[in-house]
Amino acid sequence: MLPTIQTSAATFFLLFLLVGCPAALGGPKPHPHRLPCKRLVFYFHDVLYNGHNSNNATATIVGAPAWGNTTLLAGQNHFGDLVIFDDPITLDNNLRSTPVGRAQGFYLYDKKDIFTAWLGFSFVFNSTQHKGSINFAGADPLMNKTRDISVIGGTGDFFMSRGVATLMTDAFEGEVYFRLRVDIKLYECW
Ligand SMILES: *[C@@H]1O[C@H](CO)[C@@H](O)[C@H](O)[C@H]1NC(C)=O
Ligand SMILES: *[C@@H]1O[C@H](CO)[C@@H](O)[C@H](O)[C@H]1NC(C)=O
Ligand SMILES: *[C@@H]1O[C@H](CO)[C@@H](O)[C@H](O)[C@H]1NC(C)=O
Ligand SMILES: *[C@@H]1O[C@H](CO)[C@@H](O)[C@H](O)[C@H]1NC(C)=O
Repeated sequence: MLPTIQTSAATFFLLFLLVGCPAALGGPKPHPHRLPCKRLVFYFHDVLYNGHNSNNATATIVGAPAWGNTTLLAGQNHFGDLVIFDDPITLDNNLRSTPVGRAQGFYLYDKKDIFTAWLGFSFVFNSTQHKGSINFAGADPLMNKTRDISVIGGTGDFFMSRGVATLMTDAFEGEVYFRLRVDIKLYECW
């Protein structure tokens, strides 16, 4: 019986060497793509319609709770408001810089007691620098200085791209204007 036990122990030790050691010796790591394969920084500018700025507005409330309306954001942290936007994207933080694309999609306010939103939108590019789109989705806890949302895919120059985008509110003017800095880190590039 004794040799059998020794054989088992030897087998176990061999398995331990094969399975346990490569990682300990700096072999393959569980997350090989911890550094982004591509990084892009943009700003986008949201001018929300407020009843007086229809020439200037690039966003509008299209849905409101029964106690609100589609002209002004509702009380209780805008809970229930749904906004559609077609916002210019710029390379710097100047609203008047030549846009390089459009941020198109929606945000909705989804919590009564905290100021927070949910975002679903695309960056649509049609310039000499970039052609194609990047698609974003995720929760946007607005009171955080920075928030991460998912980059869930892309087309054209951004075919099959995935990653994370760090959002930062770079500026705001009341409930009419805000500017987001979007730091896109792609971890999957084709
Ligand atoms: C819309 O709601 C706001 C309050 O959220 C109110 O001040 C405003 O008068 C309302 N406007 C209309 C047209 O009902
Ligand atoms: C992109 O720009 C080109 C050249 O200006 C234009 O011909 C084309 O229709 C545009 N495509 C889209 C999807 O806007
Ligand atoms: C928001 O910020 C708080 C505190 O700074 C942090 O604990 C939390 O993880 C952040 N949440 C998100 C979604 O970034
Ligand atoms: C458009 O709205 C923004 C934000 O309120 C403001 O800074 C800008 O001056 C406006 N532009 C025009 C042409 O009215």
